Amino acid sequence: MNRETAPAAPVVAIDGPSGAGKGTVSRLLARRLRWNLLDSGALYRVLALAALDRRLSLEDETAVAELAGVLDVVFVSDEAGAERIELDGKVVTDRVRTERAGDSASRVARYPAVREALVRLQRDFARPPGLVADGRDMGTLIFPDALLKVFLTASPEERARRRHKQLKEKGIDVSLPALSRDIAERDSRDAQRAVAPLVPADDAKVLDSTEMSIPQVVDHIVIWLSERMDVPPVG
Ligand code: DC
Repeated sequence: MNRETAPAAPVVAIDGPSGAGKGTVSRLLARRLRWNLLDSGALYRVLALAALDRRLSLEDETAVAELAGVLDVVFVSDEAGAERIELDGKVVTDRVRTERAGDSASRVARYPAVREALVRLQRDFARPPGLVADGRDMGTLIFPDALLKVFLTASPEERARRRHKQLKEKGIDVSLPALSRDIAERDSRDAQRAVAPLVPADDAKVLDSTEMSIPQVVDHIVIWLSERMDVPPVG
């Protein structure tokens, strides 16, 4: 194990494309284990919002990377597990979830200097009793020594349907075909980029959730984890 990358607590890395259910699964899993949660996508989204707020060009790798190094972001979870995200002392929880933030995040996430600037910040989340890390490169780059690596996928159609439902519940009306196109575009940008492309780690367990419910996915991961460590009982 490499001292640089060895986490200070057990880590479950949950990687996979947009809309595969990573966010919900990771949150529920963290709550069930009573572990910390790293929503790395939210970190890229917050960074993109911070850049937009400062009227930086998203094409300016150096400026965005500098901003990443001094990003004033706080993730707060309340007792019920609800999350509040603060940027520069202001609550940005809802803005973070917009398609604009997601699309801008995908743009800034292409830059090696930006990714590098966020590495330490992400590794700092690995605190006892453990961490559920949700992202695209958690198992490959950020936590290569993670205790368990899961690559969660679902068919593109199912992912578009899930995202559509999620947005609709928030009162945001986007057409399903437009969303499918966006998801396909973002997937290919994320998979083809030179740094940290969206690929499973060699030792990741691939889980296709197309036909599974969220609780089934969580149960599946808990079973895999219990093969490697004593998992705290439910309740
Ligand atoms: O999972 P998400 O939709 O919140 O992520 C937003 C964007 O951030 C996504 O298009 C790719 C990028 N991202 C990344 O490159 N690496 C991560 N670990 C997490 C997100």
